Amino acid sequence: MAKRQLKLGCVISNVTGMHIASWLHPHAERFAGIDIKVFARTAQRAEAAKFDLLFLADQLAVAYSSNLDTMSRISPSVLLEPLTLLSALAMVTERVGLVASATTTYNEPYHLARFFASLDHISAGRAGWNVVTSVNQDEAFNFHRDAHVAHSDRYERAREALEVVQGLWDSWDDDAFVYDKGKARVFEPEKLHYLNHKGPLFSVKGPLNIPRTPQGQPVIIQSGSSEPGMELGAETAEIIFTAQHQMEEGKRFYAEVKSRLAKFGRTPDQLLIMPGIVPIVGRTKQEAKDQYDRLQESIHPDVGLEALSTVLGGVDLRNYPLDGPLPEIGESNAYKSRRDLFVNMARKENLTIRQLYQRVAGARGHRTVWGDAGDIADYMEEWLVNEAADGFNVLSPYMPDALDGFIELVIPELRRRGIFRTEYEGKTLRENLGLKRPPSRYSKAG
Ligand SMILES: Cc1cc2nc3c(=O)[nH]c(=O)nc-3n(C[C@H](O)[C@H](O)[C@H](O)COP(=O)(O)O)c2cc1C
Repeated sequence: MAKRQLKLGCVISNVTGMHIASWLHPHAERFAGIDIKVFARTAQRAEAAKFDLLFLADQLAVAYSSNLDTMSRISPSVLLEPLTLLSALAMVTERVGLVASATTTYNEPYHLARFFASLDHISAGRAGWNVVTSVNQDEAFNFHRDAHVAHSDRYERAREALEVVQGLWDSWDDDAFVYDKGKARVFEPEKLHYLNHKGPLFSVKGPLNIPRTPQGQPVIIQSGSSEPGMELGAETAEIIFTAQHQMEEGKRFYAEVKSRLAKFGRTPDQLLIMPGIVPIVGRTKQEAKDQYDRLQESIHPDVGLEALSTVLGGVDLRNYPLDGPLPEIGESNAYKSRRDLFVNMARKENLTIRQLYQRVAGARGHRTVWGDAGDIADYMEEWLVNEAADGFNVLSPYMPDALDGFIELVIPELRRRGIFRTEYEGKTLRENLGLKRPPSRYSKAG
């Protein structure tokens, strides 16, 4: 029987790399993440390696802004707008999927529907939307508010926004446009559908002014892992990006989310779970360990503390001794799931504040794995066969060397084990991920 295949995403938002000290690496790319040539080269490298998708995270505010001195030591604090960037990358790639985060908290659903439908047309069926609920609390200040929207309200808004967006994507039947010169008809009127959505938060008449897209609908990704995050993911997502650290915890999350699908009339193969991994690969274990140590040693203590504060929901840790225990941490209105993960980790392993930031700050909350190609492949294969993951979102610790190392050393090892493709299966992102093209809700099959 053919082995289950890993799905792989390539995260390219942080142009110098995922590790918080990556920009200090001697070979790190510069230019504050705005050089399209750097992105184009990375996208083409990832496509040649047959990654399923490129992923761009996003925020609508500058990150790590609570302290200017600390902020000035972290890269990147500036980002290109991801849909614009992915549209440019669509023109220099042909097969790799193009996924971006866009928040439902500070965007209107009509805008979101338009952005991603456009990208799906521009890329001939390679678009995916990571539906996020704004982890950066400062976004509120850029959108007429003096406080961030509460966690549960953000999820309610996400649910209704998604319903509107997906409804708008079905505005036109696949075969609505006929351009029939004989009958003088551009489209068949009965193949156009007004949404007429009137909900608690949104009132949207429609239709969307974009035809149904090559994939029918762009792929839906979800990234929250708290209770409402899992529920939204089980109901709507086709991929969940998550940040799991231990395999047991990954298996629990996987089983929990997949077990919720049935109540929404869905089957486990309709949702792929892809945790993040920050792989540090060397030709030998020692080489990898040296790379890891060098990166870790470059973390400025203020930066480590700030990154830890951020993943814990913005708590100020500056008045506590670095070599003392983590104090009581209140509820977070940002990442509930990651706050819980790290507080539990510190308590269980008796970690000091410094040890905790060294563990989690470098990779901004994701799991770092260092070793030779066999070690990294072992880790990925183990999660795959034990049903803790369907694939991984690869966050290279520093660019471009670490991504090149992953491509040159780990991908051939995954292929040797028969768990990663040698060629794309299809042309659209859905085809490559093994996800069906959704019929329109108005079609007989729908
Ligand atoms: C892997 C991953 C990627 C995320 N990417 C973004 C992002 O690009 N922009 C954003 O505002 N939030 C992002 N988030 C945050 C989520 O949308 C969500 O707000 C956060 O995880 C809090 O929800 P939770 O408590 O359910 O986890 C991401 C979360 C995860 C786990």
